[in-house]
Amino acid sequence: MKVKANDISLHVHDAGSGTPIVFVHGFPLSHAMWHEQLSDLASDFRVIAPDLRGFGDSDVTAGIVLMDTFADDLAAILSQIGIDRTQKIVLCGLSMGGYIAWQFVRKYSDRLLGLIQCDTRALPDTPAGIASRRKLAATVLKHGTEPVAAMMLPNLFSPVTNGTRQQVVELTRQCLLATSPEGIAAAALGMAARTDATGDLPAIRIPSLLIVGEHDPISTVEEMQSIASAMPNAKLAVIPAAGHLSPLENPVPVNRAIREFVAGLESAGTS
Ligand code: MLT
Repeated sequence: MKVKANDISLHVHDAGSGTPIVFVHGFPLSHAMWHEQLSDLASDFRVIAPDLRGFGDSDVTAGIVLMDTFADDLAAILSQIGIDRTQKIVLCGLSMGGYIAWQFVRKYSDRLLGLIQCDTRALPDTPAGIASRRKLAATVLKHGTEPVAAMMLPNLFSPVTNGTRQQVVELTRQCLLATSPEGIAAAALGMAARTDATGDLPAIRIPSLLIVGEHDPISTVEEMQSIASAMPNAKLAVIPAAGHLSPLENPVPVNRAIREFVAGLESAGTS
């Protein structure tokens, strides 16, 4: 369905009932990257997955979109779909979705029952990383999405997925190729401008589950382990045979971990 939030129109998948879990996709994808979670978990929970501005079927705003703006969009979506401050959500972000989740925690922590961070980082970009984001933004605006796909796809999947699940790789490639160049550039510049979240971690007392693919080269197991260690109430699940897109690559253990985590939050709330 379409939701009007902060003066733009955003596509939002909303199904099931129960504790709301809001899934925030990575760069430069869409809510479709969560299809294995949305189809399975809707039997137990309300599953909500927007296309962020600039992605999927949502409106595009050119220039730069800060992680903060994406977080404000999420809060606006919640109001528009009838989730008010009396009903807490579980927020689940992957990679860029995780950068957005750190901002959501800063601004709207009172709305959170739990936090799930998949294959993400708390550190900001290095100067070299910022330069390569700027280059990517310029390239996509000039040459379109094909070079971005060539640049990014080799780093997204584990050797197992690359070797045996070519259909997943191809669907991701198609999603990436169909994304708006302006949307990609604006989010890349927004990620380059993101602030360091490592200083926030010791104060995040919200129960948290961290998920990482064992072969993730972008947000490594070591880096996710150090995020988990810095948070007072977090545990880490390492997903075998998965890389950077662990929920898509190996959904069975990811869904099991999410189900157990959210069921634990629910029973803690009622006990
Ligand atoms: C993502 O999957 O969202 C990206 O890898 C994030 C990034 O480029 O830092």
